[in-house]
Amino acid sequence: MAVAPPSGDYERWRRALADERLPAALLDLDALERNAQQLFGPARAANKTIRLASKSVRAIEVMKRIIELGAGTVRGLMAYAAAEAAFLVEQGFRDIVVAYPTHRASDFSDLARANEAGGDVALVIDAPDSLGRLDAAAARRGTKIPVLIEVDMAFRGVFGLVRLGVLRSPVATVADAVALAEAVGRHPHLELRGVMGYEAQIAGVTDKNPFSPLMNGPKRWMKENSRSQVAELRAELKETFVRRDLPLTVFNGGGTGSLSWAAGEPALTEITVGSGFMGSHLFDYYLDLALEPAALFALQVVRRPGPGVVTCHGGGYVASGEAGKDRLPVPFSPPGLRLTGLEGAGEVQTPVLLPPGLELALGDPIFFRHAKGGELAEHFSSYLIVRQDRVVARAPTYRGLGQCFL
Ligand SMILES: Cc1ncc(COP(=O)(O)O)c(C=O)c1O
Repeated sequence: MAVAPPSGDYERWRRALADERLPAALLDLDALERNAQQLFGPARAANKTIRLASKSVRAIEVMKRIIELGAGTVRGLMAYAAAEAAFLVEQGFRDIVVAYPTHRASDFSDLARANEAGGDVALVIDAPDSLGRLDAAAARRGTKIPVLIEVDMAFRGVFGLVRLGVLRSPVATVADAVALAEAVGRHPHLELRGVMGYEAQIAGVTDKNPFSPLMNGPKRWMKENSRSQVAELRAELKETFVRRDLPLTVFNGGGTGSLSWAAGEPALTEITVGSGFMGSHLFDYYLDLALEPAALFALQVVRRPGPGVVTCHGGGYVASGEAGKDRLPVPFSPPGLRLTGLEGAGEVQTPVLLPPGLELALGDPIFFRHAKGGELAEHFSSYLIVRQDRVVARAPTYRGLGQCFL
């Protein structure tokens, strides 16, 4: 029993998980639904659709629920691997963009198979090298594979001398994109669908990050200056594709971290959103977002090594990206908990410092948040779906279904 009863959510989640095995991942359905309505708003206002990033969810039933909630607004999935897309088509999904290039024969045949089976599964490309083999894979199955061209949206400052952005597509100019589009056009079993231009240096960069407060100012400056460049390049791409009669049915951009701005950009037809539904803690550190924690994990208190500290079983679910403290999980409920500087979140044990006045008993749960939306699912076979103080369903993760794509 908690001696000083903490937040209402703590008691509610604790009751819900009273008979569950810990560690456990849970998804608070009410919070997810409130996040969803918040995220749908800007897309609806701008008459855009949302493409759900599967990497940030990785649980079929949860993705289906989000699509249902966003009927008419959420259209299609952004997958992260060809084998995943083939699996998703088997699960009943149809409109899928695999947003990361591949050059392996096995992936090409998965993509051909998924399209032959009734899916509409596009591959994002950024080089002409494998187009012939992709085309041949589609031909062998008597089908077509749609493709999108990824154009680099990095920020170029100081007269073009400084480049800030993720290292992804070498397609950096409108001319590069047109050349690749024309190369696609020379392959009868490929079908150009349009363009993807993901502004990672805006969507993926926090700007009120308490773990690196001195960087917030420079990051805001970079993001502010980057926006006009990105909008200009996307507008130019659209104008050129239309003028040259190149297909642009889909122009994808944006992410949770840039949704409110990107939704208003005329060139885009759709915005990708994933993490925002789950409310992972990195998305607390954006000026223009106010999402709720929906995905959490619960650890059991197994030791009391000394006054003011308890040790939990498990917890080392560290997020990918540039290594830093903001990639660690945060102990979220009861409020006021902190990780220790020396141990962080450990492989099998995680010590947690308690605020004055709070005592937790052995066996009590502590609820943590992961830094990112989807990676937590790789550690658990299912999400416990919680409404109020009850587990109302169990949603298997990809991992729980025996699937692992990255
Ligand atoms: C191509 C692409 N679009 C959009 C996103 C944004 O996803 P989320 O909304 O989960 O942050 C990402 C994230 O890495 C991405 O790689």
